[in-house]
Amino acid sequence: ESIARFLRGMPKAELHIHIEGSLEPELIFRLAQRNGVTLPYADVESLRAAYAFTNLQSFLDIYYAGASVLLTEDDFHDMAWAYFERAKADNIVHAELFFDPQTHTDRGVPFATVIDGLRRAVDRAGRELDIHAELILCFLRHLSEDAALATLEQARPHLNKFIGVGLDSSEVGHPPEKFARVFAEARAIGLRVVAHAGEEGPPAYIWSALDVLGAERIDHGVQATKDPLLIERLVRERIPLTVCPLSNVKLCVFGDLAQHNLAELMDLGLVVTINSDDPAYFGGYINQNFLDTFAALNLRLWHAKQLARNSFEAAFATQERKAAYN
Ligand code: ADE
Ligand code: ZN
Repeated sequence: ESIARFLRGMPKAELHIHIEGSLEPELIFRLAQRNGVTLPYADVESLRAAYAFTNLQSFLDIYYAGASVLLTEDDFHDMAWAYFERAKADNIVHAELFFDPQTHTDRGVPFATVIDGLRRAVDRAGRELDIHAELILCFLRHLSEDAALATLEQARPHLNKFIGVGLDSSEVGHPPEKFARVFAEARAIGLRVVAHAGEEGPPAYIWSALDVLGAERIDHGVQATKDPLLIERLVRERIPLTVCPLSNVKLCVFGDLAQHNLAELMDLGLVVTINSDDPAYFGGYINQNFLDTFAALNLRLWHAKQLARNSFEAAFATQERKAAYN
């Protein structure tokens, strides 16, 4: 029907996509073969069958296993390029990609291999697809702050290749405060700051992502509705939430899409965006997230226009570039 056609066709920005989470089972097997890596799954079907998650950790275990096939610069390029082709089909014109260097450097893959492969795809997307993309380096919060500081040191020769830092992986038990020093250093360098908070964790983690880390956007943030004072703050300061509806259902944050609080967050006046998180694992790319959420929550044309506008407002782009998008 017409709203679906509008959602598919409208230009949009994607601000919450883990590039390792765009690795489709078919590409995992192709890279495993290319690199002589043995997987604990016989074929694509049995790997896909393992994608039945009960919470964030049950997903992360499989997500890190999938990333083990990535070894060469070409592997990182090919993964990101496959994402950009999907992004083009969904009318994404601006994308900010999270990457998890520690997942790779801890396996002996050099930092430069990771970022140079990704950058090659980013630059190519600009030239060949007219998609403007940027990279955001995420620290793994289940690891130590010293490990994050070491990663920031490894990244220093590459500061022209990424625009910011984020915080992801296992949330509960790893509050933002654990990373106060490394985020202070990142801010001092001039990097932009985001953090996952309030996906499974409490509103207190959203407060500390803002107050301790200096986060300019909150990734997920759906637990904020448990704290009216926090909602007031997020509205007043126009702190965007990068919400990922299909992810939240797959990881059992909400029982189903009809129970998702995205419409409530919009009604409260928050700057909400829709994103795919880990599309290869959660059942769809950004347009699937839009279509399924609009159907389940009976959202209207004004929601669509507001979400697209929000995605550009929340983007880390110059005012000139944003003006060109709108
Ligand atoms: N890494 C990849 N996807 C993630 C998510 N949804 N939450 C935390 N860490 C992640
Ligand atoms: Zn995420």
